[in-house]
Amino acid sequence: MTEDLFAALRCEPEIASPDLVAVDAADRLILDEAGPLLSGTAPGSVAVVGDRYGALTLGAVRRHGLRDVRVHTDRLTGESALLANAARLDGAGPADPEDTVPGRFRVRGLDAELMTGARAVLLRLPRSLDALDEIAALIARHASPEVAVVAGGREKHLTRAMNEVLGRSFTEVRASRGRQKSRVLHASGVRGVPAPGPEWPRRVTHPELGLTVCAHGAAFAGTKVDIGTRFLVEHLDAALPEARTAVDLGCGTGILAATLASRRPELSVLATDESWAAVESAWATVAANGLDDRVRVRRALGTAGIEEASVDLVVLNPPFHVGAAVEDRVAPELFAAAARVLRPGGELWSVWNSGLGYRPRLQGIVGPTRQIARNSKFTVTASVRR
Ligand SMILES: C[S@@+](CC[C@H](N)C(=O)[O-])C[C@H]1O[C@@H](n2cnc3c(N)ncnc32)[C@H](O)[C@@H]1O
Repeated sequence: MTEDLFAALRCEPEIASPDLVAVDAADRLILDEAGPLLSGTAPGSVAVVGDRYGALTLGAVRRHGLRDVRVHTDRLTGESALLANAARLDGAGPADPEDTVPGRFRVRGLDAELMTGARAVLLRLPRSLDALDEIAALIARHASPEVAVVAGGREKHLTRAMNEVLGRSFTEVRASRGRQKSRVLHASGVRGVPAPGPEWPRRVTHPELGLTVCAHGAAFAGTKVDIGTRFLVEHLDAALPEARTAVDLGCGTGILAATLASRRPELSVLATDESWAAVESAWATVAANGLDDRVRVRRALGTAGIEEASVDLVVLNPPFHVGAAVEDRVAPELFAAAARVLRPGGELWSVWNSGLGYRPRLQGIVGPTRQIARNSKFTVTASVRR
């Protein structure tokens, strides 16, 4: 009966691509390995983290009749797909992304309430070890001491270091047998005393930028400053000096937004990202630098929620990965999102790996594009909205 559900799951609003599937062998293995833990559990005792499009949450609910499962998905795309799949499969129409589905599951941030009292956690292993460390520490601190974690992924994405990271929070970590190139790590036995180390979000001061950067585990580049970001920061003072409104699109930890706000007091800045970790990190960065009255931060897909033709300046360091896949459609999607909100004459300032040759696309999607700077790796361009 879960197979019917799996067959009906969709990845939307993810950008369609031939190798994108809504449920894969790792999801199936996690559900099978967790089966004995899930049958007969009390309402509110299961948490799901990192579900890609709803297969884990909806599969577990359908198979075991669970109630009040708490769910956290970093990417808004995944969260929206989960809610849309849940609504469609119930025939209830599209779900409000801010809403929850009462009774069966609730969408939450990566916070104490997600884990409080949980006895079973289904986890799709994140690629980043820092993200895994933050999740494991949260489980260890807030879940039931008897909690069992079933953490799985595709074998090509698993590393030995993941066992070590889980071992910082749990006394027992063992791997399942592989199946269809997927594997599960079972973790249990919460360590009474958490492993020493800084708390999340972590914070590091970068004196050369005059900024303190805060980062949750899943945020791009963590508390470091990516070299592409750094290159764009070097040129931001020259970006449309008459601008009064700016958007940091795909803000990550908020370095571009905080730089703009601290150097240009006349600018009103909005930072947006689809990642929960990014948005929470950007909030923390903005607050740590005393800029919370100057920068708004919002979790959104692209420029959703921003009025068309209303913005003077957009700054963007686009991703070239979606999850594990190198995906060259994401950046053009974001160029189009920027073009939609820029007023005529407004500018998109972007940094990109020179090998990606984005200039013709920027030219076509946004408008006339000039090179501002280029080094051995990156190009900074300014594109004027027609
Ligand atoms: C390369 S990182 C840059 C982060 C930050 N601007 C910096 O320079 O450090 C790209 C960011 O875009 C975000 N992102 C990717 N696709 C997005 C989308 N469709 N809508 C909003 N944000 C997106 C990612 O979550 C990630 O934080």
